[in-house]
Amino acid sequence: MSANLWYKNAVIYCLDVESFMDLDGDGVGDFAGLADRLDHLERLGVNCIWLNPFYPSPNRDNGYDITDYYGVDPRYGTLGDFVEFMHAAADRGMRVIIDLVVNHTSVDHPWFQSARQSEDSPFRDWYVWSKEKPANITEGVVFPGVQEAIWTHDRKAGAWYLHRFYKHQPDLNVANPQVRVEILKIMGFWLALGVSGFRIDAVPFLIEDMGLPNGGTQDPFSLLTEMKEFLSWRRAGAVLLAEANIEYELAEDYFDGGDRMNMIFDFPLNQTLFLSLARRTASPLRQTLMHRPGSAGMGQWASFLRNHDELDLARLTKAERGEIFTAFAPDPGMQLYNRGIRRRLAPMLGNDQDLIRMAQSLMFALPGTPVMWYGEEIGMGEDLSLSEREAVRTPMQWNDQRNGGFSAAERDAVFRQVPADGPNGHRHINVAEQISNPDSLLHAVASMIAARRSAPEIGWGEFEVVDLGTDDVLALSYRWRGGHVVTLHNFTDKAVTFPIEIDGIERFVPLLSDAHNREPFSGGTKITLPRFGYCWLRCGAERR
Ligand code: NOJ
Repeated sequence: MSANLWYKNAVIYCLDVESFMDLDGDGVGDFAGLADRLDHLERLGVNCIWLNPFYPSPNRDNGYDITDYYGVDPRYGTLGDFVEFMHAAADRGMRVIIDLVVNHTSVDHPWFQSARQSEDSPFRDWYVWSKEKPANITEGVVFPGVQEAIWTHDRKAGAWYLHRFYKHQPDLNVANPQVRVEILKIMGFWLALGVSGFRIDAVPFLIEDMGLPNGGTQDPFSLLTEMKEFLSWRRAGAVLLAEANIEYELAEDYFDGGDRMNMIFDFPLNQTLFLSLARRTASPLRQTLMHRPGSAGMGQWASFLRNHDELDLARLTKAERGEIFTAFAPDPGMQLYNRGIRRRLAPMLGNDQDLIRMAQSLMFALPGTPVMWYGEEIGMGEDLSLSEREAVRTPMQWNDQRNGGFSAAERDAVFRQVPADGPNGHRHINVAEQISNPDSLLHAVASMIAARRSAPEIGWGEFEVVDLGTDDVLALSYRWRGGHVVTLHNFTDKAVTFPIEIDGIERFVPLLSDAHNREPFSGGTKITLPRFGYCWLRCGAERR
């Protein structure tokens, strides 16, 4: 297969326009601000930006509650500003993918407003209704403790509507052919404006409606095939990235060799990664990697540490979850929905610089495409005084000035306060300071990205978990087109020494490492990884 599949060697950076940079000084981030700060992303080396929803929205769920799929929320600018941003990104060789949230709309969407008026509304069947009160309406809530049910009675409609998420987010009925046509139309619109694909929100819920009262009998996955076919016709090279927190057994139904989803976020791996970090052993992660199904053909797993939501640990056992809570979120206020953690990476790891860097290096070294969350490259923290997942969505910290350089507005006029004090506040942690400091996390992450981009073996190649005879270190080996790269990560807070012997390899050239192991060495040599140390090696000669 040719190396045309750009996403296999991409580094994706997720951000929310609202919280990245406010250029017009009204207290809210905007597209003009984002375009202005693309140099930060260029310096970092990312080559694909994933934008959280920026569509008109009452913003009751951070924009995941949409009232118009064909526009930009006026708080962030105009459609013209969006196009200017797209142009600026393309100029710097960056692709843009956007959130496609079509499992549900906002209750304020004109479709729902029409649908609830009468059974004769042309939009009535665009949603999922039940005349009778459905059984078990509290079963399957996604946000336990906050969301009460998945069906709510609407007095105007005289019926119950389905909402997998909050009650202000009625589910669209994808069994209705008109809804499917509309989904493709939305995709076509943004593809015409230059996006390189979509992160599809809540895919398992999106396709599940088939079995519901007014659902059909089609194969639920057919929607994904239709979306992918349409996407490929409209824009060659565009991709679909699924938010699908699924079991590995189901993965191939979603990938279908890449004929459906190109990428799926690897939620199971994310959870065992944190179990490994909490236990200080590579063992759980190693086990998961060894049993993870491949992503054949055009498929690719997407790796991540943190994202805009809680760190969801629901796939682990209660005891395992408890271990992670004890290590990284001991205070109940740091936990969420009985299953997750509403913290950012740096404070969760106790601001231990060695551990943070090891975890970041690991993410770039995992088999798959890395997806970062803005602010993690400088070690931003969370604001636990905010509700639910808002805690990890505070504005980007650019400098140590007012509002962390995010906005020139008066402090009270900023939509969400920029944490100022403490170890992760903007006075201490900000982009400007880290640019001028060669030992900063920002520089370290930039070198990791550069190493990752220069090691296509990782994104493209076959990987193998190497047995070094110790669970202290995770060793991964990648081969692709004659190239061979090995990555090593020490999960313990003690130095570990071990010989590196790989069949047929006489010479190892370090590609990336912490302050140690910078010189080439020969096969069989004992190497020492310091506490939470990491080292990436190119095997044999330089890359051909
Ligand atoms: C998943 C998104 O990641 C989350 O932020 C959102 O609340 C739900 N989908 C509902 O759209």
